[in-house]
Amino acid sequence: MAKLCIIGAGAVGTAAAHWAAVKAVAEEIVLIDIVPDLARGKALDIAQSAPVYGFSCRVWGTEDFGALKGSDVVILTAGRPRKPGMSREDLLRTNLEVVRSCAEAVRDLAPESILIVVTNPIDAMVYAAFRTTGFPRNRVLGMAGVLDSARYRYFIAEALGVSPRDVQALVMGIHGDHMLPLTRLANVAGIPVTDLLPPEKISEIVERTRKGGGEIVSYLKTGSAFTCPGLAAVEMAGAVLRDEKRVFTCSVWLEGEFGFSEVFIGVPVVLGAGGLERVLTFELTEEERKALKASVESVRKQMALTGL
Ligand code: LAC
Repeated sequence: MAKLCIIGAGAVGTAAAHWAAVKAVAEEIVLIDIVPDLARGKALDIAQSAPVYGFSCRVWGTEDFGALKGSDVVILTAGRPRKPGMSREDLLRTNLEVVRSCAEAVRDLAPESILIVVTNPIDAMVYAAFRTTGFPRNRVLGMAGVLDSARYRYFIAEALGVSPRDVQALVMGIHGDHMLPLTRLANVAGIPVTDLLPPEKISEIVERTRKGGGEIVSYLKTGSAFTCPGLAAVEMAGAVLRDEKRVFTCSVWLEGEFGFSEVFIGVPVVLGAGGLERVLTFELTEEERKALKASVESVRKQMALTGL
């Protein structure tokens, strides 16, 4: 019986629990939050939708981190979201302590689990969790590429008036302004997007993708995106729990892939029962390499700020 724990019953954690239930990725889904009763209430609301939607998994909430015991996958969403005008880096100091204490609990209570970090700034927070847990790199993953690639694919689909399902595209690099939406590899049912859209439109989409999270923060004013971030984390968890060998861009610890080492950065990987099973490397153009290097440098600065 598979068990998924989600730490943090804020907007992203709650969305993740909801998606996990409707997508039936685990038989037991537990939402944990230190705020008394918060996770309990959110989880109960989701559980009560079971007869209407028609899912059978057990969903419950608690403030007791002891519930982490026996988790196969843990999604870590705890921390503060951005406010308008804040960069993801501004959050680093606030969220570092939260992530470290949650990661200690995961290390002690769910030592065999696979940990998916969603808390921003994701690449630095997944690094903090990697250092704190001491887990091998295959079991510590950052969620960002699935979300950023979804935004990129959606904007391409919107521009072309086609179904977003038929758009394939990937965003590599940092989850931040230096992310790298690859134009060369974006396609609609195999047809290169560069043959379908003028370069100015593609540049506009790339820019909008880079600022995709900020655009939503500017509308919401008191928080950031949650539906797609929650779903993206659940897609990753599902790939692990069902050993699906899905190919997603995730923030992982590089050991020489794409010419970089000892840095968490978004790259395409194969996700299965072992967590990160393989990084899918391919030849980058000179321009892409430079852009990825800029991403790596930004993440390294954030990693240094963690003091770990
Ligand atoms: C976003 C936040 C989750 O990109 O970073 O919406």
